Amino acid sequence: MLLTGAAITLFGGKGGVGKTTLAAAHALALADSGQRTLLVSTDPAHSLGDILDVRLGDRPRRVTGCLWAVEPDAEATVRRRIIQVADEARTVVPDEVMPAVRRHLRHAAAAPGMVESALHDRLIDYVDQVPETWDRLVVDSAPTGHLLRMLALPTLLAPWVHGLIQQRERARAVDGFAASVFDPEPGRDPVVEKLRARQRRLAAAAARLRTDAAVCLVTVPRRAVVAETRRAAAALRDDGIPLGVGVVNQVPSRVDTAVLTELRALFAPVGWVEVPLLDTEPIGVAALRALPRLTGAEPGP
Ligand SMILES: Nc1ncnc2c1ncn2[C@@H]1O[C@H](COP(=O)(O)OP(=O)(O)OP(=O)(O)O)[C@@H](O)[C@H]1O
Ligand SMILES: [Mg+2]
Repeated sequence: MLLTGAAITLFGGKGGVGKTTLAAAHALALADSGQRTLLVSTDPAHSLGDILDVRLGDRPRRVTGCLWAVEPDAEATVRRRIIQVADEARTVVPDEVMPAVRRHLRHAAAAPGMVESALHDRLIDYVDQVPETWDRLVVDSAPTGHLLRMLALPTLLAPWVHGLIQQRERARAVDGFAASVFDPEPGRDPVVEKLRARQRRLAAAAARLRTDAAVCLVTVPRRAVVAETRRAAAALRDDGIPLGVGVVNQVPSRVDTAVLTELRALFAPVGWVEVPLLDTEPIGVAALRALPRLTGAEPGP
């Protein structure tokens, strides 16, 4: 059995447990079985290229026959989106108001959460390409908190909309003329409407993550990590996100059997895989291919 049968697999877990390594190894296994697979990093501190030992960038790059990988450039994405929204605005607002629109957008671009939102937005672009372009999408996530926020996608777009609305309200106070021209029909704002449409698109994608995706939690057999894994599993369950097979990584030859027993019990309903702690870091395609095949125990009832 493959690690998960879901079209979209996200790898989550605490910092440093091996999410990127296992995401890459899993994506390679899928690609080697002939499935067109895209491996996407949503960690703002990308390390997919380091683990695969290939240079990656903002556009999917072919790594092996059926495997492509991408490290979306969050800041470039924000810049592109801002230009796109400004272009759209230009078609509906008078020229003399455009400087005010650009000012609003610049402020919105600097809003907290913008870079994170941009990465998630890029992920949704790729989710939308399954199954037409990609048979499988494998997502390397930042540590758990970030993953959980990402799965709450619709609320993450709030900075786009709220930042813009706030700026517009401020502008109304100091720049009444521009604001009144910019808002020819009270209650209708084409820019905000575009952003709301984007928010709806994210809501649809978030719904899809509950039907076509699974999160494989990666953990290590250490007491300090087990509690976090348990909380992450509970949070995902509460959010209605299916759990994929669990991965117990970096299992040393002399392991605390009590911890291992606890993890096996935690993952029993979904099945799990145990990956030994290797003497050398599994970096590069050959080393990743040599990792134990990501097959797991049959899920329980
Ligand atoms: N089974 C293993 N045996 C030995 N080293 C491993 C194993 N799995 C991963 N590593 C190494 O552990 C380090 C952390 O792995 P990785 O970057 O995949 O973790 P991560 O969970 O993605 O980290 P981060 O939270 O920083 O994104 C890397 O140096 C990787 O090569
Ligand atoms: Mg990582």
